[in-house]
Amino acid sequence: MTAPLRLERPRPGVARVVLDRPELRNAFDDVLVAKLTDAFAALGADPSVRAVVLAGEGKSFCAGADLAWMKRVVSYAPEENQRDASALAAMFLAVDSCPKPVVGRVQGAALGGGAGLVAVCDVAVAAEGTLLGTTEVRLGIVPGVISPFVVRKVGESHARRWFLTGERFDAAEALRAGLVHSVVPEGELDAEVDRVLDALLLGGPEALAVSKGLAQRMGRVPLGEALMEATGVIAARRASAEGQEGMRAFLERRRASWTGGRGS
Ligand code: COA
Repeated sequence: MTAPLRLERPRPGVARVVLDRPELRNAFDDVLVAKLTDAFAALGADPSVRAVVLAGEGKSFCAGADLAWMKRVVSYAPEENQRDASALAAMFLAVDSCPKPVVGRVQGAALGGGAGLVAVCDVAVAAEGTLLGTTEVRLGIVPGVISPFVVRKVGESHARRWFLTGERFDAAEALRAGLVHSVVPEGELDAEVDRVLDALLLGGPEALAVSKGLAQRMGRVPLGEALMEATGVIAARRASAEGQEGMRAFLERRRASWTGGRGS
């Protein structure tokens, strides 16, 4: 058995979080749930990290919750069962609310909670042939804590079909639904992730965090409230040191200080 989670720094500014239980197709139990939650909290607060890649070791990205663990809860007291489910919710929330952009590197299978992890990535890149799905009903359970994240990502229409049929679908369907953003041959997965990272590293770090929040909230609040918030946000950002540097760099035809010498 390998350690359930690996942290790597593949290039400056980038952290790679690797689910590392390949023998169980990276199914997550309480230990992996706690480690993943802690890892995202730490990376979110680490100023040296500007983007995070979430990947799975081996044949599959993630087979969802470890069914042996899920089954075991029958012996738990109700409060313990509830606490365990809350920890699972906290894991998805930690990835979803991470202030750094999160890029999913998805291959093999992403089922149940694995599809939930794809849903909480900001950009998901999948290998051709990847199978995705919310298979829970076929096990007599439900896509519980992942449901708000999946519905927010793909909308009620896809969620109603996927949650009820439990069918596995391919990366092309996930692409059409907006669950993933590009599909490439498996051998090109890392190059595609790098291409996304190149783009993300051109963004001002504070601007990325604020923009992620805007993308997550603006569709959910009434327009008047949204515009009031957006007005305050752009007023603050254009007057900020980062905003001033970014605009000055453009006008002076040079690279912004945070790009580490990379052009746009
Ligand atoms: N929980 C616990 N164990 C799991 C698991 C899960 N979610 N998914 C896979 N495993 C285990 C298998 O039982 C098997 O264990 P074994 O080697 O001791 O028999 C091992 O992982 C490899 O699985 P296998 O099915 O042989 O691998 P595969 O590469 O042929 O298929 C999957 C991979 C992910 C398509 C397949 O394992 C699968 O469908 N898993 C269930 C996914 C699911 O429905 N998840 C929803 C959870 S809510």
